[in-house]
Amino acid sequence: MTGKEPTSRFLRACHRLPVDATPVWLMRQAGRYMAEYRALREKYSMLELIQTPELACEITLQPIQAFDLDAAIIFADILPPLIGMGLNLEFLPGKGPVIYNPINTPYDIDLLGTPPAGETLASTLEAIRLAAAALEPKGIPLIGFAGAPFTLASYAIEGGGSKDYARTKALMFSEPAAWKRLMIKLVTVQGDYLLEQARAGAAALQVFDSWAGLALGQNAYRRYVAPYNTALFDKLKQASVPVINFSTGTSSYLEDVADCGGDVIGVDFRMPLGAAWEKVGLERAIQGNLDPITLLAPWREAQYHVDLVLEEAGGRPGHIFNLGHGLHKDTPVDAVKCLVDYVHEKTRK
Ligand code: CP3
Repeated sequence: MTGKEPTSRFLRACHRLPVDATPVWLMRQAGRYMAEYRALREKYSMLELIQTPELACEITLQPIQAFDLDAAIIFADILPPLIGMGLNLEFLPGKGPVIYNPINTPYDIDLLGTPPAGETLASTLEAIRLAAAALEPKGIPLIGFAGAPFTLASYAIEGGGSKDYARTKALMFSEPAAWKRLMIKLVTVQGDYLLEQARAGAAALQVFDSWAGLALGQNAYRRYVAPYNTALFDKLKQASVPVINFSTGTSSYLEDVADCGGDVIGVDFRMPLGAAWEKVGLERAIQGNLDPITLLAPWREAQYHVDLVLEEAGGRPGHIFNLGHGLHKDTPVDAVKCLVDYVHEKTRK
């Protein structure tokens, strides 16, 4: 850590400093489960919301106004950087993201641009400036984020979501040189974007590698993913803000994931938090890992699972309470409020 100790619970936990209560924020804390978000979404497309700084800032603040959260995350998505690289992205209601000109051949990879974020993602950088300024008086840090190279490559190649990542993996296995060029381009674009987010006022950065673990086993991860994630996390050291390395499906090789870098390791709900922390090493902070679907059950049952996560964390400094993946759109708002307040009450020193 450089400079003086942070005062916010969230940043203190990132640095494994003692806290007065365990900090909580929730992946996808801004979104469709909130009526305030749905009201805006009726009037604007997903990309309009992301690309209008005042609207993106307003959505970022919605969950902060509704709940006692310890961090905000900028309202954006991992996919818009692909637009600047030359891909034609849209979010279709009820279907999710689509890319109309996905990567098919090594030549398509060579055509991808690597423009600076200042040129192509200026609206999100401006939204960060607005949201950071609005949060400053409340002492709430703002988290910036981006997708990891594999997860972004999977959308760029599949043209949308995928169950088996067959096109992505076929290209990865059969065209190793082109794969390497693609990964290097993504490290360039994402690294620059994340560093710009920190310059614009993000107090921490999260890298989402949502699909590498679902698509790949340990050996493939080591060969085709780890070198590029390592390069990205190395570059992010220049940001001088804590970096969270989040992935899913990586329980069986979490130590490889952690070796790539990051100050905080974000873990999914597939492994008990205690076991995950042992694998990562207790000298690293950890974030997680309540199964988000428990919040669709009656609170007493959700509470049982929350208690287990807190027990697994063992009251050690360096735990940031979060879900093991994003909030589901059908989550009752009351369950989110119960959760946030309960974690604070239960862990208050
Ligand atoms: O966490 C937050 O509150 C910040 C906002 C945020 C969104 N997407 C908003 C969003 C963040 C951090 C993301 C990250 C993201 N986007 C990831 C990584 C995290 C994860 O879930 O693993 C991924 C894989 C995406 C890509 C993406 N965006 C998909 C697959 C979809 C469709 C599925 C869905 O949930 O609708 C989106 C759309 C999306 N991103 C929405 C929101 C609020 C819903 C859009 C709508 O209003 O229709």
